[in-house]
Amino acid sequence: MSETTVKPAQGKLGVMVVGLGAVTTTFITGVLMARKGLTKPVGSMTQYDRIRVGEGADKKYLKYNEIAPIADLNDIVFAAWDVYPANAYESAINAEVLKEKDINPVREELEAIKPLTAAFDHNYAKRLDGDNVKTGTRWELVEQLREDIRKFKADNNLDRVVVLWAASTEVYVPVDENVHYKLSDLEAAMKADDKEHIAPSMCYAYAALVEGAPFIMGAPNTTVDIPAMWELAEKTKMPIAGKDFKTGQTLVKSGFAPIIGTRCLGLSGWFSTNILGNRDGLVLDEPANFRTKEVSKLSTLESILVPEEQPDLYTNYYHKVRINYYPPRNDNKEGWDNIDIFGWMGYPMQIKINFLCRDSILAAPLCLDLVLLSDLAARAGRYGIQYFLSFFLKSPMHDYTKDEVPVNHLFQQYVMLKNAIREMGGYKADELID
Ligand SMILES: NC(=O)c1ccc[n+]([C@@H]2O[C@H](COP(=O)([O-])OP(=O)(O)OC[C@H]3O[C@@H](n4cnc5c(N)ncnc54)[C@H](O)[C@@H]3O)[C@@H](O)[C@H]2O)c1
Repeated sequence: MSETTVKPAQGKLGVMVVGLGAVTTTFITGVLMARKGLTKPVGSMTQYDRIRVGEGADKKYLKYNEIAPIADLNDIVFAAWDVYPANAYESAINAEVLKEKDINPVREELEAIKPLTAAFDHNYAKRLDGDNVKTGTRWELVEQLREDIRKFKADNNLDRVVVLWAASTEVYVPVDENVHYKLSDLEAAMKADDKEHIAPSMCYAYAALVEGAPFIMGAPNTTVDIPAMWELAEKTKMPIAGKDFKTGQTLVKSGFAPIIGTRCLGLSGWFSTNILGNRDGLVLDEPANFRTKEVSKLSTLESILVPEEQPDLYTNYYHKVRINYYPPRNDNKEGWDNIDIFGWMGYPMQIKINFLCRDSILAAPLCLDLVLLSDLAARAGRYGIQYFLSFFLKSPMHDYTKDEVPVNHLFQQYVMLKNAIREMGGYKADELID
């Protein structure tokens, strides 16, 4: 083992979340409750997982914070931006994810989290119409967001800040080489107030990186998945991660597809459908917003069961993903997967998976892990796309201009995660993926 050069997690860590809806309030409430010893952060890798380090007689299984310096839950200070003015307590009650008995013990702390005005454009989420918004050109929005970050840091005497997007999915912004490839072009478009190519989310990401805060994209928006933002992350030496929390159906898919692939069974079709009744479901009911999600959800399978690699097994399989807005279920999503496989001599078989999950309950621990690990990465001097965080994401970022292929296979992603933690702890990465 060599000495680690990671800076210690000293002082307070500010966590600024874009969007104070179901996911964010479930995340914040859970952390505040866990700090009081009133709940357990179940599902969080940084709080529970143990990784093997060393070999032979030196072999040990350690928790992440025993390997590398991860910020303590007690050192986190929260802030959020939202289009609606409801504070975190009111928003948690409205979201109806958690029972009041699980919110009330931290009511005062939640009430104190009043959303900052949002950088918002109605054309990017037509089903939302709140008035807690900033005004100005895209560039002016960036400047106001930068001021928000600086003020939050100063007012709370924070050492570091991480910005996490857990706001609604914006309409799909196709990557345009003339605007999104070079940082200078992106900045020029912001200054020219180019509303078509500059999504509000890009203003948050730009502001965060320039203010020295890692940025994580939890929705499928293409925000930081463009070469201009990679350039900015290199320039500011800040980590970026995205996109789209890998929670329910895609988690199952990325864990289940390897069963088919490793046993060399064939696939003729995979149909995934969901019913969901929360505000996220409402926004995704708008076809332009769903398109962003669809692109993200479809990519998972194609990189695990690759037609070019196994033409007999995976050519022309039919892959469909649907999300249907169905209010009675609220945050309790139900997902169905019908998988048509074939075996020896081409004989067909079917697998059905019915996952009755809770969206925000699955997303909250991912928020915590993504925030803590991005902060760790920044202190370790890692910047640009954080491939090791792919484990938590549905549509992991990769440099498509260099034909890089994303890693979607859950167990390969886990190896990448473990190796990054080992390396940041000064240990050797020792399970290379092939
Ligand atoms: N829960 C999951 O399993 C899961 C998985 C993957 C991705 N996501 C994504 O996480 C995001 C949040 O999900 P949710 O269920 O909390 O949704 P939600 O609708 O409850 O909350 C989103 C909040 O974002 C706010 N918002 C929208 N645009 C904004 C902007 N420009 N600035 C500031 N605030 C803005 C909305 O007003 C809303 O309060 C969605 O994009 C969703 O697709 C969730």
